[in-house]
Amino acid sequence: MTTAPRKIRKIVFPVAGLGTRFLPATKVIPKEMLTVVDKPVIQYAVEEAIEAGIEHFVFVTGRGKGAIEDHFDMAFELESTLKARGKTASFEMLEGSRPPAGAASFVRQQEPLGLGHAVWCAREIIGAEPFALSLPDMLIQSKPGCMAQMIETYNARGGNVVAVEEVPHEHVNRYGVCALGETFNERTHAITGMVEKPKIEDAPSNLIISGRYILQPEIFAHLEKQKPGAGGEIQLTDSMISLLGEQNFSAYKFDGTTYDCGDKVGYLSANVAYALDRPDLAPAFRPILDRLTKSSHP
Ligand code: UTP
Repeated sequence: MTTAPRKIRKIVFPVAGLGTRFLPATKVIPKEMLTVVDKPVIQYAVEEAIEAGIEHFVFVTGRGKGAIEDHFDMAFELESTLKARGKTASFEMLEGSRPPAGAASFVRQQEPLGLGHAVWCAREIIGAEPFALSLPDMLIQSKPGCMAQMIETYNARGGNVVAVEEVPHEHVNRYGVCALGETFNERTHAITGMVEKPKIEDAPSNLIISGRYILQPEIFAHLEKQKPGAGGEIQLTDSMISLLGEQNFSAYKFDGTTYDCGDKVGYLSANVAYALDRPDLAPAFRPILDRLTKSSHP
């Protein structure tokens, strides 16, 4: 008899990066608090996790990231003022946008030593259960959300699951890249190898790791002894490669569009795409966008 994989209850959001590509905006404001239309980037990732049935939200933060903690707390004065003034819709929107009391944990990375180190900092809160991991600046527009799709794949296959997508071959040196083996279905394949930021000529494919993962807790033992890799940072991909010797990894080609909001062009594109998807904004925004596109020079 095969047992069902253990439920994914917890998610880690590593939000301790410095966001140097977005200076000066990110000197005081965490890059995860930059807004796409009218919502901070981090809130899209939390809503995606809630939709996927996740119950506990672990934020790995650093110095200067206090606004993230405040954002997911109750804004007591603001909310009671909205209630007293009868602004019910705004009050309910705020009330519905934060995790329930006790469902969010915050842990400090202390030093930005890399994504792998940030994930390792969550080990005590995660404990010995499989967990989800989401890099919030990789904003994924999809219905159902990417994390819900990932959990469905995990429930069918167990093990570790990594969201992947194709990029132009000349961009592979910016990402973690996967080599694929057996095909399980149209969207799901076995991973046979991974490499972080390879030289273009050495990349095993053009399928990159897109910032959503389901990982088994054994990853922490590998992260514990992980030496710095690409860019001098402790890389999650390097620890996944050593875990690949012991456990199954599936690559899941999700249905959706990614916007890298840590990058200026990705962030601008996200704002346009999400605004055009909003029935309350698109009718007024589209003609302005058309006019700007026609009149702009390269
Ligand atoms: P990035 O590669 O986007 O790095 O990190 P960054 O430092 O945030 O941004 P730039 O390159 O300086 O502009 C990918 C993810 O890993 C987290 C980031 O917060 C982001 O979610 N991260 C990275 C950490 O939490 N800690 C680190 O030490 C490094």
